[in-house]
Amino acid sequence: MIQIRCHGTIVAGRRILVIGLLALLSGPALADCDMERGKSLYNKCAICHTNAKDAGTLVGPNLYRIIGKKVAAAEDFVYTDEMVAYGITWTAELLDRFLESPLTEVRGTSMAFAGLRKEADRENLICYLTKTADATED
Ligand code: HEC
Repeated sequence: MIQIRCHGTIVAGRRILVIGLLALLSGPALADCDMERGKSLYNKCAICHTNAKDAGTLVGPNLYRIIGKKVAAAEDFVYTDEMVAYGITWTAELLDRFLESPLTEVRGTSMAFAGLRKEADRENLICYLTKTADATED
């Protein structure tokens, strides 16, 4: 980890750089993603999750419009304490970080999924999740 000392405070340089890059990438990446690729990646999640309104719980909670929701907020699902403690609201950035390696990002989670190591895969999947939820507008 690179550390930068500025005005006496140690700043974790690498993390700030990564967050900055994600913020730069997330705009355009969400606008034009590969929906076919996103759909085929989502098939990995669909074993355990639904992604339509009121589609209910499988092994994991419903993911409909997950971005913008509070973490661990589905009322019909019992989350691990570790998942509850993870964060406040799902943003594209938080989801990206979680999906890269769920089991190391949220140690103790019951989500038995190794993760998506390729950044492009995570982008296409997150884009697919967002756009399919938009398409099923009431
Ligand atoms: C083997 C089953 C399984 C697979 C595969 C799986 N998940 Fe999960 N997921 C879970 C479980 C179980 C939880 C609840 C975790 C906890 O409480 O620790 C969860 C939680 C989540 C959450 C948190 C939801 C909330 O309400 O805060 C998100 C987001 C999520 N999964 C996304 C995904 C995505 C996207 C994929 C596919 C890339 C995926 N999951 C694959 C089982 C799975």
